[in-house]
Amino acid sequence: MRKNKSSKDWIIQQHRDQYFKQAKSAGFRSRSAYKLLELNKKFNFFKNCKTAIDLGSYPGGWSQILKKSLKNCKILSVDIKKMKKIEGVDFLLCDFRKEESKEKILKELNDKADLLVSDMAADTTGNKDLDCIRTNALCAEVIEFSSSIIKENGVVISKVFNGTDFLNVKNLAKNKFHKVNFFKPESSRDYSKETYVHCSGIKTL
Ligand SMILES: C[S@@+](CC[C@H](N)C(=O)[O-])C[C@H]1O[C@@H](n2cnc3c(N)ncnc32)[C@H](O)[C@@H]1O
Repeated sequence: MRKNKSSKDWIIQQHRDQYFKQAKSAGFRSRSAYKLLELNKKFNFFKNCKTAIDLGSYPGGWSQILKKSLKNCKILSVDIKKMKKIEGVDFLLCDFRKEESKEKILKELNDKADLLVSDMAADTTGNKDLDCIRTNALCAEVIEFSSSIIKENGVVISKVFNGTDFLNVKNLAKNKFHKVNFFKPESSRDYSKETYVHCSGIKTL
């Protein structure tokens, strides 16, 4: 029993280290950067993107990828933790859940966004169910907010946990969008329940 647990831990650690080392040598601030690359490879949402929002951007791996991949694109990154400057990326230090933050985001953009990506995760408490509920609540808020912030042909990518409240988030996404898919990047393949939802074709009234 004990042996199995430690070999499982070893595999998880190796997997983490592989992407950590890769990110470090490529100059990315997080190994999550690879998740966004994989997500784009799967869904191709970087194409023709002129306005992008990165929610939960700290330390900045996804913002680095957006800056590198999107030419002539306005990029607005948001986090409750201060993100070190990335040239050509605007940053808002705020709690996304607050109404005034949403207003600030809307005000900051001249136009609606082509792309809204969110890697937001609630702080871990040690209680896996509670962590799942809190992160999925953030995802639900991202999907709700998307109606006011993305263009009709815009795309939403958001972290979601395949656990408590997952079905509620899935149903919410299906109510708002014509196309809803889930994808777990290889670089995320550990024993966590993390996956990503891809939403496109927003339903208009
Ligand atoms: C997994 S990290 C994001 C990593 C990032 N994508 C990268 O590549 O560097 C999750 C982030 O979500 C942020 N976050 C969590 N709740 C938030 C909230 N209510 N508003 C803004 N940011 C939030 C956390 O501060 C944390 O930096």
